[in-house]
Amino acid sequence: MAALTLQGLGKRYGAASVVQGIDLRVADGEFMVLVGPSGCGKSTTLRMVAGLEDVSEGRILIGSDDVTHQAPAERGVAMVFQSYALYPHMTVAQNMGFGLKMAGQLPKAEVQARVQRAAASLQLEALLERRPAQLSGGQRQRVAIGRAIVREPRVFLFDEPLSNLDAALRTQMRAELAALHQRLGATIVYVTHDQVEAMTLGDRIAVFNAGCIEQVGAPMALYEQPANRFVAGFLGSPRMNFLPAAVAAPLAGRLAEGTTEVGVRPEHLQLAPDGAPGLPASLMRVENLGDLALLHWQVAGLPEALVHKTGLAPASLPVPGVQARLRCDPARLVCFDARGHRLG
Ligand SMILES: Nc1ncnc2c1ncn2[C@@H]1O[C@H](COP(=O)(O)OP(=O)(O)OP(=O)(O)O)[C@@H](O)[C@H]1O
Ligand SMILES: [Mg+2]
Repeated sequence: MAALTLQGLGKRYGAASVVQGIDLRVADGEFMVLVGPSGCGKSTTLRMVAGLEDVSEGRILIGSDDVTHQAPAERGVAMVFQSYALYPHMTVAQNMGFGLKMAGQLPKAEVQARVQRAAASLQLEALLERRPAQLSGGQRQRVAIGRAIVREPRVFLFDEPLSNLDAALRTQMRAELAALHQRLGATIVYVTHDQVEAMTLGDRIAVFNAGCIEQVGAPMALYEQPANRFVAGFLGSPRMNFLPAAVAAPLAGRLAEGTTEVGVRPEHLQLAPDGAPGLPASLMRVENLGDLALLHWQVAGLPEALVHKTGLAPASLPVPGVQARLRCDPARLVCFDARGHRLG
């Protein structure tokens, strides 16, 4: 395994710049998650690292080797895509060993040994003689991951590998990926749209926006101390509520000097006790999710309802039409200046 370093990495298609000035260092053995809105350049960045796309500017280092202009096969990188792209006429074992056999440098016995080891670590041993059509989606994705593992790459690249799976399988595969990372000590760059995957799998998360990186940090650091409004609004589901400072003042008293906008996560809103001060609100809608509920409060002067996540038992949930006052622990408010930078 090895560290991966991106220095001033950029990509243009004709006049369109889709990735600009990406500086990112992924430590040896680190699990780095890339998130960001559709079209922000996550896949393009991975594809440049894999050598599937030319680099327009900047450098890519793996360990201390500059691989910017190396052929894909020379880089020691393996990529796993959203669609597994297995060969339908080959068995699981053949699919996993195919890339190695094609490369032709390894003795047959070594290829077989690596396939066996990868199959064991992915619980695929019983399936080695099956063909892809005889596998579930989750099993096929494990084969695609196995095909990457047998190459013993220096860096693994994953581009939304679990997004075709149903929720239960995704949860299972997420746990397996975390265990695999621990076992292999692999350097991984992992693109996902899934908030839970980003928060739970990553040692660190890099938040992309319009071809640039907004912030890089440990998941909880980004969640609790987002550098700006974009990162604050991107991580978290349901997303953070945003209020103009003038409206937010009765929520929690004084705001930091220079605040123009305030962010409050749904789980940090509370109902003020009877008679206590707070932000007057009227309940529009209740979404009961079983273990918790989302209350949608309308507030004068706000275009959108505030979303309030609460664990109240169903019998004690307020009903639509109720008037209440909302508050928030001042320490939980996130204050932004006019440029969207977090204050404090
Ligand atoms: N071959 C190409 N020619 C021109 N533009 C391209 C090409 N490939 C990608 N793009 C553009 O580059 C931008 C970044 O695309 P990319 O696939 O990296 O986004 P992404 O972050 O992976 O998005 P998603 O989350 O939807 O997968 C997009 O605006 C896309 O339209
Ligand atoms: Mg993509």
